[in-house]
Amino acid sequence: MGNQMCKYGLDELMEVIDVFNVSEKSAAKIRAILTEETPEPNAGNFFRYYNPRSKTVEFEKQFAAHTGCKYALAVNSGTSALISALVAAGIGPGDEVIVPAYTFFASVSAVVVAKAVPVIVDIDESLTLSPEAIEKAVTPRTKAILPVHMLGLPSRMDSITEIAKKHKLAVIEDTAQACGGTYRGRYLGTWGDFGCISLDAYKVIGSGEGGVVMTNDEWLYTRAQSYHDTAACWRPDRYGRERKEGELFCGENYRMSELEAAVALAQLRKLDWIISTCRRNARILKDNIQLPAGVKWTEVCDPDGICGYTLPLLFEDKEFSIRAQNAGVVGGNAGDATRGVRNWHMAWHWEHIIGLKSATKEGCPFTCPHVKELKRYTADSWPVTKDIIHRTGVIGVSQFDTEEAMLNAAKRITEGLAKC
Ligand SMILES: Cc1ncc(COP(=O)(O)O)c(C=O)c1O
Repeated sequence: MGNQMCKYGLDELMEVIDVFNVSEKSAAKIRAILTEETPEPNAGNFFRYYNPRSKTVEFEKQFAAHTGCKYALAVNSGTSALISALVAAGIGPGDEVIVPAYTFFASVSAVVVAKAVPVIVDIDESLTLSPEAIEKAVTPRTKAILPVHMLGLPSRMDSITEIAKKHKLAVIEDTAQACGGTYRGRYLGTWGDFGCISLDAYKVIGSGEGGVVMTNDEWLYTRAQSYHDTAACWRPDRYGRERKEGELFCGENYRMSELEAAVALAQLRKLDWIISTCRRNARILKDNIQLPAGVKWTEVCDPDGICGYTLPLLFEDKEFSIRAQNAGVVGGNAGDATRGVRNWHMAWHWEHIIGLKSATKEGCPFTCPHVKELKRYTADSWPVTKDIIHRTGVIGVSQFDTEEAMLNAAKRITEGLAKC
């Protein structure tokens, strides 16, 4: 591992080890051990290609095997996974994509970056896209539905895929917050044409930054692969001519690095444990919290499929929800209901969309001549979603909590709610 032997060696590895906050004493021991090592061929090549030991390729293989999707493409974020999927599905100028009014803004931003326009519709009490709202929003220009499995809660994928089939729409599942969750026993992200995972630091499993595009369709995979890697640079025959029209086009560089892939691989091995432990802890809380009149458990679409790291409650009125949030008994939506704090998870704060903001003064894609009828929004366009979100309280669950800690938490929450 000597400095002179390869481009990336001991010095770089020690910086990575420092990220884990090891003591100086341990770091010195590790350095001493590794100084003895001689580099292996290809060690320290952080590029996913030309690399027989590629962690990225291994991660893709294991992720696909784990979730049961045919193709998994590792990318550098959940946002780039969504953009790659939208582009691969052929969505672009003048196309409308239906997204929920409750999601992290990246879901909507990805649509705009892909040059299409978002049509933002209400959720229902499951905190996910309302099938009725989708039906009402479909127009001849609709090309895709983008359900978001918020807070690790599955969307109603049977109804959504049925609507999509009826209107010949693509389904791109934003599974950023729900890696490892299921709907009717099938992994989230494998119901639609695409599933898009985020591996950022706050997600179920993470690699600092990162993402995965999941699909069962070889052609859609080929196009996502092309776009994520600057114009199909790394097809099997790198410099070959286009094998089929629609394969070669200009793209981005959304490649995952070997460093992220190495972390993602280790995290993937923990996924089952994380999900099963969170579900167990959520179950203990649910079984032991006594809810007073005026509040009920959120009716999630598939209680067995939740990731389990959040347990949402629905209050009858906003004031009760605010009292419980202010007392610290439940979490809310980062102060949106309690203090009117701006928050990028709710459509009424998306001034980029409400104000049709664009990176350039031409106003693309909103002003694109392909856009025939642009739906305009105000902060008051989603009263149903606003009401549900303002009446929702969230209990956070962690895989690191013991059963005893959960029982104590259940007692504290029961007593806290009774006092509100
Ligand atoms: C619902 C949702 N979609 C997309 C994203 C974007 O993922 P990333 O941060 O990896 O780009 C996030 C991240 O918070 C998210 O919560």
